[in-house]
Amino acid sequence: LSRNRPTSSTDLGDGDLSIRLDVAIRSQSSRIHAAIRSSIVDGVLRPGLKLPSSRGLAAQLGMRRNAVVTAYEQLLSDGLIMARHGAGTFVAAQLPVPPKRLRPAFDCEPKPRRAFELGHTVVDGTLLKRLGTALARHVINASPEHLGYGDPRGSHRLRCQIAEYLAQRRGVRTDPACIVIINGTQHGLRLCIDALLARGDVVWMEDPGYYAARTTFLSADLKVVPVPVDEHGMNVPHGKLRATGARAAYVTPSHQFPTGVTMSIERRVALIHWARESNAWVFEDDYDSEFCYTGGPLTALAGLLHDRVVYLGTFTKTLFASLRLAYLVLPPQIVESVVNARAAHDRFPALFMQKALADLMADGKLGNHVRRVRRRYCEARDTVAAALTNASDGILDARVPSYGLHLAAYLPMDASRHAAGEIRAAAGVETRLISENRIARAGPDGFIIGFSGHPLHELKAAAMRLGQSAADYFRRG
Ligand SMILES: Cc1ncc(COP(=O)(O)O)c(C=O)c1O
Repeated sequence: LSRNRPTSSTDLGDGDLSIRLDVAIRSQSSRIHAAIRSSIVDGVLRPGLKLPSSRGLAAQLGMRRNAVVTAYEQLLSDGLIMARHGAGTFVAAQLPVPPKRLRPAFDCEPKPRRAFELGHTVVDGTLLKRLGTALARHVINASPEHLGYGDPRGSHRLRCQIAEYLAQRRGVRTDPACIVIINGTQHGLRLCIDALLARGDVVWMEDPGYYAARTTFLSADLKVVPVPVDEHGMNVPHGKLRATGARAAYVTPSHQFPTGVTMSIERRVALIHWARESNAWVFEDDYDSEFCYTGGPLTALAGLLHDRVVYLGTFTKTLFASLRLAYLVLPPQIVESVVNARAAHDRFPALFMQKALADLMADGKLGNHVRRVRRRYCEARDTVAAALTNASDGILDARVPSYGLHLAAYLPMDASRHAAGEIRAAAGVETRLISENRIARAGPDGFIIGFSGHPLHELKAAAMRLGQSAADYFRRG
């Protein structure tokens, strides 16, 4: 509204009438229209109030009468004013009550990054330049069919590249026809929910688990049943006892979020059996297995059982979060319903960035980048783990993960419920607590430490502060 831009205030001396003209609006009629409209919508001009005649208002504003007439006509079409023959022009009697708050209740401004925050990565300028050049090339050379509506699954070439990568690195054999490009993991989950589940259905969720996935399930009116995670991953027998009739299970088997454990083969087999027997779906979120520091990554669940597993992969970790490119790998029998859900949702994904990304994959640049940053992340992981252990005199149990971009550092089992929060506050570091990712609220607490995308010296300093603060806390008793 004009109130957000520079305004010149003009209070009209006509009873209660007061409007503010926005000098940034060039046309006189639009300026008058916008000023009266905001005053009516904001409740400054009350329903039933008589407006000045067009001649009178033009004289007061020093503007053309025609401009006022045009503005009044526009306000009449908007339904904001009404004309009564012979009596004049009035603010409409029936108007919605203005909303109290126009600003969103949450703060969506990006904040400067701080050590330990999750969701950051390293992308060097050369790779960004390549991506930008490829993007520009595709836009500049776009043929007419690339400017219209497209396949709800996304770029065929990118899906072929992903299928090749999955077969080579994750043991997942799929046809590119079964891959759907999405705008991030939560978007993919939402599409699967729309296609496969109904309101009130029960979903198993790892506890502690990925808060964002839980938000997606809850926002779709699903019932989330927490299933505890131990050193073997999700405790499937426990899930069967609590809710054997669940329709789906969400898991991060390669590198559990946030504990970092890898799901054992026994648990994988148990999960697969349960899914088969109950005709349930497994949502396998394989968000960071490209970063495997020892040996090769375990075969994905979708590589073991591909008729009940929906696999979710993302480029958020291999490249960067604001790219918003991820993918679903679907069992063939549900492709049609998920594609229909996608078409109903937002039709299809934006094309050109997908094409540029397919280029980076095809010429091996993405693979080279991952190998390069993996070495840096590995060094960061070890530096942070050592600093946490040393500075805390061994009080913090920093578990060095074989995968991924974060680690979990635990407090002793007998620490009080408030210990982690108090240690974090005293250290002044940005870290999520394990308890903040719990649903059932029982179990050991500690810190989730993101070690990617931050300068090494900042990571080390933050780890020293957190370790020191933990040591002080326990020394004080
Ligand atoms: C468990 C988990 N899944 C998925 C993602 C990636 O989400 P997205 O693809 O929406 O960026 C993350 C990112 O931090 C994550 O922690």
